[in-house]
Amino acid sequence: PHVLILGAPGAGKGTQSDRIVEEFGVEHVTTGDALRSNKQMDIGHLGLEYDTPGEYMDQGELVPDEVVNEIVEKALSDADGYVLDGYPRNLDQAEHLSDITTLDAVLYLDVDEDVLVERLTGRRVCEECGAAYHVDFNPPEEEGVCDKCGGDLYQREDDTEETARERIRVYEENTAPVVEFYDDVGSLVRIDGEQTPDEVWDDVKMALEEHA
Ligand code: AP5
Ligand code: ZN
Repeated sequence: PHVLILGAPGAGKGTQSDRIVEEFGVEHVTTGDALRSNKQMDIGHLGLEYDTPGEYMDQGELVPDEVVNEIVEKALSDADGYVLDGYPRNLDQAEHLSDITTLDAVLYLDVDEDVLVERLTGRRVCEECGAAYHVDFNPPEEEGVCDKCGGDLYQREDDTEETARERIRVYEENTAPVVEFYDDVGSLVRIDGEQTPDEVWDDVKMALEEHA
């Protein structure tokens, strides 16, 4: 299936995407991870404000569309089924997406701003396999070590409180209209993202069994 997962920073898109990948055998296409692996890429020839994606990301701003659209286009053309996470983040990206693929299901994880900040500032990520933990809500068995692969856990540079709040502001301004857009065309499945990860997963799975 072709699945789109929407939600604010920290809503749990990555966490649920990992489960979708396991259950449905699709590719995880995530612009955030793709950009994090290419933070130092030279995009100076585009003549934009900054010369690397990392400079946008560490401030919580969106990386320009021309960079991100190309990443997604390439990743989707290589994938049979996918769960798309972190894209589209504005209406122009949504339009571009509809030109290059068709979606079977659009899920939206609904979470309140205060909860988002708590989740982001407490998140720890495995540097080997990318699994996300939380110091309080989802701690690893041994502090600082990934349960799945034994890799070291680190804190993302954009997970400080200040940058987290800026990312949420950028989300409200640019990405909330994307959620409305899919809602208006009637394809949005709204899921209560404040439940436990297992409860959210039950709803996600049910929605995908019905729609995808
Ligand atoms: P990106 O990496 O996409 O970050 P994001 O959208 O801010 O999303 P996150 O990864 O922070 O959160 P998530 O929803 O995946 O939550 P998670 O599952 O980890 O983007 C980063 C940057 O890249 C952007 O700021 C931008 O600069 C750039 N970028 C990316 N895409 C772009 C695009 N299309 N256009 C332009 N620029 C782009 O969960 C969060 C935490 O909560 C974890 O600790 C987890 O353990 C915990 N948790 C998860 N679920 C639950 C639950 N149900 N209950 C309790 N805790 C939970
Ligand atoms: Zn790991």
